Amino acid sequence: MPGRGVLCLGLLLHVLRGCGSAQQPGSCPDLCKCSEPAKTVKCVNRNLTAVPPDLPPYVRNLFLTGNRLALLPPGAFPAQRLPDLSALNLSGNHLRAVEAGALALPALRQLDLSGNPLLSLSPQAFGEGGSPLEELALRGALRDHGVLLSLATMLQSGALHNLSRLELADNGLLLLPPGMFTALPALQQLDLSNNSLVGLGNVSFQGLGQLLGRNAWVCDCAIEDLVAWLKESDQVEGKEALTCAYPDKMLGKALLKINSLDLNCSVPIDLPSQLQTSYVFLGIVLALIGAIFLLVLYLNRKGIKKWMHNIRDACRDHMEGYHYRYEINADPRLTNLICSQNSCKTSRQMLGSTLLGRYKLM
Ligand SMILES: *[C@@H]1O[C@H](CO)[C@@H](O)[C@H](O)[C@H]1NC(C)=O
Ligand SMILES: *[C@@H]1O[C@H](CO)[C@@H](O)[C@H](O)[C@H]1NC(C)=O
Ligand SMILES: *[C@@H]1O[C@H](CO)[C@@H](O)[C@H](O)[C@H]1NC(C)=O
Ligand SMILES: *[C@@H]1O[C@H](CO)[C@@H](O)[C@H](O)[C@H]1NC(C)=O
Ligand SMILES: *[C@@H]1O[C@H](CO)[C@@H](O)[C@H](O)[C@H]1NC(C)=O
Ligand SMILES: *[C@@H]1O[C@H](CO)[C@@H](O)[C@H](O)[C@H]1NC(C)=O
Repeated sequence: MPGRGVLCLGLLLHVLRGCGSAQQPGSCPDLCKCSEPAKTVKCVNRNLTAVPPDLPPYVRNLFLTGNRLALLPPGAFPAQRLPDLSALNLSGNHLRAVEAGALALPALRQLDLSGNPLLSLSPQAFGEGGSPLEELALRGALRDHGVLLSLATMLQSGALHNLSRLELADNGLLLLPPGMFTALPALQQLDLSNNSLVGLGNVSFQGLGQLLGRNAWVCDCAIEDLVAWLKESDQVEGKEALTCAYPDKMLGKALLKINSLDLNCSVPIDLPSQLQTSYVFLGIVLALIGAIFLLVLYLNRKGIKKWMHNIRDACRDHMEGYHYRYEINADPRLTNLICSQNSCKTSRQMLGSTLLGRYKLM
């Protein structure tokens, strides 16, 4: 039976090939479409629940969209088998978690994770070392605040040092973590459109070309820096169209037309000067009272003189011919110090004579 032997040999060869890491050049995963000349593989809207394990090694552009991946575990894309994979579209895959090392691909330049309801994103998703990633899209993927914080941690760690375009539109973001973009020296385009940003807090704007439209800008003091930066910058697409949403008085006002007087930012700074004003006022009132007092004294100068004379006369009358006799009882050590006009009768002669001297002076 030579036919069966050949078949067995063929099967064996097939199994051996399948076990080896080298794919058959012409092979393509089930449910996917492959084009070797275009170095492209598309597995679109196929309800795949995992990344196909047999992706051809030539792939540069991989569209794995509209499936049900749910989770990207560590090594989901085996780096050694996909050395050239540089554009990866994972949008709309119902992804909830991206674990550490899941996207550690040595040639990855573009990644689209849009439209995935992410609940967890490992800050080490791109591996321990730096990733060459240049474009990252997270449109409608950051509904969870924890994921936003993880992303900020990842960006601040410097793992995406070469990132030049970051898309964060449609995320309902209210505020951005402080310093979120500070470790992105190559960033040129930041799309923050259709969020609910109320300001940019302490985000560094340096060198960013941004898309900031369709946010509900709150035009209070916090926006002063952003307005100043917008006026200077020539990198912001459509900056003329940015308008205030709150407060009512500023509704619809273009951010570029705001001047600092509109913002009432001087209120807290005014407080000390208001205090100063009230001190000045108090001073004036006191000075007036003083002046009136002096005036009254002046007008009554004759009466006062007469009054002083009367008092002096009364005192003199009272003092003359009076014999002083004092008893000091307060301090027990002094016992009874009894003085008459010329002598004191205790052991404490010093004190007695001092007192006496004072009486004499009077
Ligand atoms: C994917 O799943 C949905 C619902 O489970 C089904 O309607 C659709 O036909 C499936 N698509 C494919 C390509 O199997
Ligand atoms: C990824 O695929 C989606 C759906 O096909 C598409 O809308 C989007 O533009 C693609 N992203 C990139 C970066 O090409
Ligand atoms: C970032 O880009 C520079 C210059 O293009 C390159 O030399 C460097 O290797 C890139 N970094 C990474 C982590 O790929
Ligand atoms: C704006 O984002 C919300 C989600 O936050 C989305 O539902 C809506 O379709 C987006 N609007 C536009 C015009 O893209
Ligand atoms: C803003 O950030 C810079 C540098 O990250 C820091 O020095 C500064 O204190 C921050 N300002 C506020 C108000 O947080
Ligand atoms: C600023 O303050 C003045 C006076 O208190 C008020 O009339 C004005 O509406 C305020 N402007 C804004 C933008 O709040």
